[in-house]
Amino acid sequence: MALVEVKNLSFYYPNGYQAVDDVSFTIEAGENIAIVGQNGAGKTTTVKMLNGLTKPSSGDVLINGESTKNYTTAQMARRVGYVFQNPDDQIFNATVYKEIEYGLKKMKVDMGECERRIKDAAELTGMTKYLETNPYDLPLSMRKFVTIASVIASNCDVMIFDEPTAGQDLDGLKILSDLNRVLTQRGKAIVTITHDMEFVADNYDRVIVMCQKKVIADGRTKDVFFQKEIMEKAMLKQPALVRIAMEAGMQEKTLDVKKLASYIRQNSR
Ligand SMILES: Nc1ncnc2c1ncn2[C@@H]1O[C@H](COP(=O)(O)OP(=O)(O)OP(=O)(O)O)[C@@H](O)[C@H]1O
Ligand SMILES: [Mg+2]
Repeated sequence: MALVEVKNLSFYYPNGYQAVDDVSFTIEAGENIAIVGQNGAGKTTTVKMLNGLTKPSSGDVLINGESTKNYTTAQMARRVGYVFQNPDDQIFNATVYKEIEYGLKKMKVDMGECERRIKDAAELTGMTKYLETNPYDLPLSMRKFVTIASVIASNCDVMIFDEPTAGQDLDGLKILSDLNRVLTQRGKAIVTITHDMEFVADNYDRVIVMCQKKVIADGRTKDVFFQKEIMEKAMLKQPALVRIAMEAGMQEKTLDVKKLASYIRQNSR
């Protein structure tokens, strides 16, 4: 049984606009998945239905085989954590420490465990030296890490990060890449929405492509990124590595720079 089963989800906003149309996919424990697609494709609306923030107009989300309709909000908060696209929709405490602690207190996590989880989440997100800082004294890119730390501390089975790569420099991207790896090693399922295809190529095993409210591809990242028609349809730029490999006539699909370089060296002699 899949950890999360998304079944035929559709969603209409109150103004009648349909943002999601018959979306289905599954998520297994320990999976590292990127969701990509152009602005307005329906990515945020879809993932908000995974943690119950938004109720589907039709379709269902099952967690461990049980419909989320049967879960209370508190039960959902323990299973699926969502990091908002805009951190300012989420942050309201006066220090980074209090912000991370807030959800844990609501979950009635005992003090010792609370401290342990806050320390761990702060280390993973590079927030250790800012624990006593007011989140609003940090730049937006770092406020994003405050919200990521809150979700990591909640220790949910599934963690959804909505556009964590936006505005990050190389340091920020490295922190994201490392925490993704550590969390999946711990058996967490990580779902990341991003517009950074290079980051996806380097960090995600699987990619789900959304286009005009629907999922149009779902598979191994290299298989999806080498499908020019899919990428064009979704208005996504293939990573440079993929474009060069295709131009060079490489048969094997690879996202490994060293493999591509060695192919080009061998074939240019
Ligand atoms: N509250 C709302 N009422 C009406 N339409 C909305 C509302 N929120 C979003 N939409 C519309 O629903 C569509 C999907 O929005 P959504 O935020 O899910 O897209 P997205 O793929 O996350 O895009 P982005 O990459 O820009 O974050 C968009 O056309 C958006 O304008
Ligand atoms: Mg979005």
